[in-house]
Amino acid sequence: MLDTLIFDPSACGFPKPRVPLLPTGLAGLSFQTPAPWAPAGHFRHFARGRYALREAYRLAGVGPGGTLLAPAYHCRTMLDPALALGGDVVLYPLRADLSPDRAALDALADHSPTPVKALLATHFFGIPQALEQLAAWCAERGITLVEDCSHALFSEHCCPPGMGRCGEFVVSSPYKFLPSPDGGLLYAREAGRLNKLRTHPPTWTAELRGLAYTWSKAAEHRRSRTACDARYIDAELAAIVEHLTPAARDFCEPAGCSADYRPDEDECAALRLSRTICRHPDSAAIARRRRENYLRWMQATANLQHCRPLFPELPAACIPYMFPLLLEHPEPHFHRLKHLGVPIWRWDSLVASACQTANNYRLHLLHLPCHQSLSDGELDWMIAAVLKVGAGETAEGLDRRYYTNRIEV
Ligand SMILES: Cc1ncc(COP(=O)(O)O)c(C=O)c1O
Repeated sequence: MLDTLIFDPSACGFPKPRVPLLPTGLAGLSFQTPAPWAPAGHFRHFARGRYALREAYRLAGVGPGGTLLAPAYHCRTMLDPALALGGDVVLYPLRADLSPDRAALDALADHSPTPVKALLATHFFGIPQALEQLAAWCAERGITLVEDCSHALFSEHCCPPGMGRCGEFVVSSPYKFLPSPDGGLLYAREAGRLNKLRTHPPTWTAELRGLAYTWSKAAEHRRSRTACDARYIDAELAAIVEHLTPAARDFCEPAGCSADYRPDEDECAALRLSRTICRHPDSAAIARRRRENYLRWMQATANLQHCRPLFPELPAACIPYMFPLLLEHPEPHFHRLKHLGVPIWRWDSLVASACQTANNYRLHLLHLPCHQSLSDGELDWMIAAVLKVGAGETAEGLDRRYYTNRIEV
């Protein structure tokens, strides 16, 4: 039985992020229609990438008697569909640069509880992984390679260089790059494999809710732009350090589907609004702005004492999803940044494995936004917050006060 490590910060009282983690408004949209990258028969639209993954896994044979090989560092929604199908999940280790550790794969496949039917390979943060040899290994063993482009701007009109070339199925999450309320895309190299795949359209009530959500996110973002003033960070940090802060709960439970996977959304198509938005990406503008923001993060954090960029370089032509930053002392630096309202994602709840990279990155690796809707002021503020938290203090000194000011819950 697999175990899931759960990090539950609900007692910490972190405020809402002051800056949205994902794009809002009209930034990154174009009203010209680009030429389709592949004929429409190769694609199906779902509500999220996780439901597109479900179909890829199912078509590959994952289910009772069929195993998914998945990366040990993951968002739980990457495994949820396999667990929901009743399949076994075996995790493969990753190297420090998040590339699959291929030396481990043979033994894992040979000792899998049931035959391996699919392997999920992820282009983490939009940085392309070389998958050719992995694809050859899968082909030799009759395993379906599912290429995870959830962190890439992969659409019917856009295939980023180095991606979408190897997988028999490719899955992406357009809402991570475009201001759409939902969206998950499944691409099949052989269109015929999707012949029997039907999706049902969302209700008009859901469409209206999606429209209201998109509008309110954009309005909230417009209103919150003044909340990011770097002049107040010192005083805000001093108040955070002084205050009693309940600790998060870090515990283990038997693996199962996360609450983010909703079986009632299986086979549900993306909202019409999302599909319309996805037909109009301004890929050049998105790429330019995301690369500029990523490079600013990278330069600003290159020489800090207590954190460093995960990747020392941004490959040419790569459109980054988020900026990955490794913290030396997640306690207390993650908590400080969260209390300041810095938008952060972290895969701190995941299925346990012996992979050193996953065990290290679970609490140490932050995912920070670099999307095209960020203003210069918002980026300046986030960078200033990270510089203050990640540069100045050691784990002693002020931080000792932080530890003594914790209440165990
Ligand atoms: C790398 C990766 N793949 C797949 C998924 C699932 O995508 P979605 O959120 O669209 O369901 C996620 C979720 O964040 C992810 O980060």
